[in-house]
Amino acid sequence: MKCVRCRKKGVIHLKRHNAAFCQECFLYYYKNQVKKNIKRHRMFDKEDKVLVVISGGKDSMALWHILASEGYNVTGMYINLGIGQYSDKSQQVVESFAQKNGLELIVKDIKKEYGLDIYKLSKLLKRSTCSVCGSIKRYLFNKVAYDGGFSAVATGHNLDDEAATLLGNVLSWEEGYLARQSPVLESTHPKLVKKVKPLYTLTERENLFYVLINKIEFLHDECPHAVGARSILYKEVLNRLEEESPGTKQRFITSFLEKGRRHFQDAQEKLELRECSICGQVTTTEVCSFCRFVKLSNQNTEN
Ligand code: FES
Ligand code: ZN
Repeated sequence: MKCVRCRKKGVIHLKRHNAAFCQECFLYYYKNQVKKNIKRHRMFDKEDKVLVVISGGKDSMALWHILASEGYNVTGMYINLGIGQYSDKSQQVVESFAQKNGLELIVKDIKKEYGLDIYKLSKLLKRSTCSVCGSIKRYLFNKVAYDGGFSAVATGHNLDDEAATLLGNVLSWEEGYLARQSPVLESTHPKLVKKVKPLYTLTERENLFYVLINKIEFLHDECPHAVGARSILYKEVLNRLEEESPGTKQRFITSFLEKGRRHFQDAQEKLELRECSICGQVTTTEVCSFCRFVKLSNQNTEN
């Protein structure tokens, strides 16, 4: 196995590209993929302030590292969601990386700052912890980005995540979600910040290789609530397909973006957006779900 670029000994084989790379050329390939994705989808440029959402896992750590090394104006954002040890450990990893590399980091703690407890809320609302957690995260990403004058919110979604989401949405023909699945979600309201996924063509394995080569510390554990999630099953199924036919995931995503997605444009819900009467963030109801969560949590501690 020789590196396709320099003919030295290859250390990673990427079957879907029918290519092997040595360490140095892998980094070159990785960097190029990220740069191409940013450019092709006009995600942001060097003048833009970019908020990078960090969980402490390999994907977001890789994203933060590559964007900072390429000279983009990035600030990390970490949310402590109060998920026991998982949250404590990930916060430590993220803070120590920021400190060692002199990177800016914004930390939000939903319990300390807003009195929110995702477990209590999920019981009260009869919703899964992941869905409550997801609403809180989406709200805070946007709020912090908007308040801080950021041009984009970047997340570490990789090719495996995107293909699994697409498969899930196709299996139940979630037209609205299909219309919105994209490496770039443009803003549809002056108070909504654009969302981008610069790693959407890179696999979990490639991100792992990137953090290992660069000796970036990351949290190996997944969120404990991810266990048994549908997305994991979809990933397994896609891995099986990928084994038989390398390139399946990438073809699935790129051909969807090129040919499939446009058929769902009409399914984009034309929701009437308004500003929350309490916090002013964008919502479709009088009071946004985040403010409802805060109210509910406070009522419950008073009782
Ligand atoms: Fe939100 Fe796991 S990260 S429930
Ligand atoms: Zn609100």
